[in-house]
Amino acid sequence: MSDQNPVFIPGPTNIPDRLRNAMHIQTRDHRAPDFVETFAPVLEDCKRVFGTETGQVITFPASGTGGWEASICNTLSAGDTVLVARYGMFSHRWIDLCQRHNLEVQVIDCEWGSGAPADLFEQALKADTDKTIKAVLVTHNETATGVKSDIAAVRRAMDAASHPAMLFVDCVSSLASMPFHMDDWGVDIAVSGSQKGFMLATGMAILGVSQKALAAMETATLPRTFFDFRDMMAANASGGFPYTPPLQLIYGMRESLKMLLEEGLDNVYARHFRLAEGVRKAVEAWGMKLCAQSPELYSDTVSAIYVPEGFDSNELTEHAFNAYGVSFGIGLGEMNGKAFRIGHLGSLTDVMVLSGLATIEMAMADLNYPFELGSGVRAAQEYYRATAAANQ
Ligand SMILES: Cc1ncc(COP(=O)(O)O)c(C=O)c1O
Repeated sequence: MSDQNPVFIPGPTNIPDRLRNAMHIQTRDHRAPDFVETFAPVLEDCKRVFGTETGQVITFPASGTGGWEASICNTLSAGDTVLVARYGMFSHRWIDLCQRHNLEVQVIDCEWGSGAPADLFEQALKADTDKTIKAVLVTHNETATGVKSDIAAVRRAMDAASHPAMLFVDCVSSLASMPFHMDDWGVDIAVSGSQKGFMLATGMAILGVSQKALAAMETATLPRTFFDFRDMMAANASGGFPYTPPLQLIYGMRESLKMLLEEGLDNVYARHFRLAEGVRKAVEAWGMKLCAQSPELYSDTVSAIYVPEGFDSNELTEHAFNAYGVSFGIGLGEMNGKAFRIGHLGSLTDVMVLSGLATIEMAMADLNYPFELGSGVRAAQEYYRATAAANQ
């Protein structure tokens, strides 16, 4: 199989040469001054991506799941109540993690394909007159269903209920690809990772933490050692790490942030919207449906697409891989067998997306899907031609 083909899974994403080269370094001493010079700007520049001036960026050698765990164990105590809506595999897994930490998890079950229910959050918070709910947990971009939730609306709901709970947001598959405004949205902890919008290998959990969450850390009693914010912040203050850092990834992060800021965050978001819109035009031309229930929920980083009745989406993704050497995302959880996913985030151009659409069309044609070969590619081509910078 050729490793020239891009992946169309929603993370880990394609690693551009510039970042592969940045990570291709010999071991260096993480106590030497050049590490300090590399790491300090990483923390500073990440703030711009999170959209925070008042928050603190904290990273751990971990994946997004480690970031979830760090958010919980630094700020909460066993028996604390958290309010969470479940509308996909990742919100489900965060709930599971909280339950295993002996938190009281008040779950609002929603249909997969819908987003965070701000109105139901408001009701639940208003009903919580004793203020037992300590945090509201929201998955910004549900990677399983391709649904983006309105975090500003959740914040408004919390304010309308005059509830002091903290707001924790999973932005693993949205940060550095879709707009994120930690301060404006009043987010207390935002959890992300290196392997999606940052276009790097997996291995760094990246968190934005508000002053309110840092204050909660002082009284929280869940056990923490590896993920202790206090140890990490104390070491970071002098440019260091409390244990061995993922050195190559940190050099990669330095370069990734340079790339993102050179392109300009607004341009990064506009590129993701445009790529996603081309994919959505293709889905429409195929006569197929997105899992996301309405346009305001459409994710610009991943599209989850129902296959027609009587077809098995696993067969489609397996065939695309075996016949053409291209990976697409499988349907997760409730979506397994019913939907496949096209990841369109990170280091991607319209030309690369067109190759993915052409490939999945070949696979669908091989499996006798009821659609016209070339129709989705054409729809995306027309959209990309009409919106290309040269044609504006
Ligand atoms: C929205 C979301 N949250 C959390 C995770 C878990 O992150 P990780 O696999 O890096 O532990 C993922 C992974 O795909 C994700 O998409």
